[in-house]
Amino acid sequence: MLIAMNAWQNSMAGRNREQSKENDMLELRDLCYSVDDRAGAQDILNHISLTIPDNQLTVFTGPNGGGKTTLAKVIMGLVQPSEGTILWNGQDITGLSITERARLGISYGFQQPPRFKGIKVRDLLGIASPKKLLSKMDACSFLTQVGLCANDYLNREVDASLSGGEVKRIEIATILAREPSLMILDEPEAGIDLWSFARLTETFREIHKQSSCTMIIISHQERIISLADNVIVVDHGEITRQGSAEEMLPAIVSGTLGDCPMIQKED
Ligand SMILES: Nc1ncnc2c1ncn2[C@@H]1O[C@H](COP(=O)(O)OP(=O)(O)O)[C@@H](O)[C@H]1O
Ligand SMILES: [Mg+2]
Repeated sequence: MLIAMNAWQNSMAGRNREQSKENDMLELRDLCYSVDDRAGAQDILNHISLTIPDNQLTVFTGPNGGGKTTLAKVIMGLVQPSEGTILWNGQDITGLSITERARLGISYGFQQPPRFKGIKVRDLLGIASPKKLLSKMDACSFLTQVGLCANDYLNREVDASLSGGEVKRIEIATILAREPSLMILDEPEAGIDLWSFARLTETFREIHKQSSCTMIIISHQERIISLADNVIVVDHGEITRQGSAEEMLPAIVSGTLGDCPMIQKED
């Protein structure tokens, strides 16, 4: 991912954000992803079609194993679809590498982020940022936005000494530093304490309010789902339901009480 970050950083210098059109969007057309392993051929994603307008916040939710992470990876280019097309602002990016997608402003936060032994948090933020020299104040601000005290973390190495929740928040800070046009976050709540999670949710709310970025967040958390313009349930590799947070939350909440209508496919 560092390669992609570097490429993206270099490309940002010439990129003119003012050029973005009002009808910019992400479009997925008939996406399929199949694997053929010891268990035989398996369809992981089945003909997924979806349009996400510019600057909207979309939540992918649904049962474990439903295909959310795979769908996110297909959008980032970590996984190549067996069929279908991905359009970003009208450009077909299906055949583009991760680096090329990163150059177009697409950024991805792993469900389980990698660690970078020997690299300090401030270096990671500096590499990610499109600015030639990221100021200490800006670096601190990105860490604060994810609920980390900058003084404690700027000079820490991104190695095994950090907890899962710390690495997760540092990765999200790195994504914020990249100033992406499309941010894809896979379960940002994982391993994060309630206080930090509340801060993180506020950050997502602020980004959304500023309309500065299209966000896809994979989440099961009511606080994140309630921010969404569109909530999409992915189950058995298909979109089984979608709607506004207001429409979807009651069913999701009732699902957590035992009865789970969200995983029932509509006829
Ligand atoms: N490369 C692969 N080989 C075999 N099975 C896979 C592969 N990638 C994903 N899967 C399977 O696809 C399903 C969807 O996985 P995933 O996208 O991680 O689901 P989710 O993120 O919704 O929990 C799971 O059953 C998973 O085991
Ligand atoms: Mg997942």
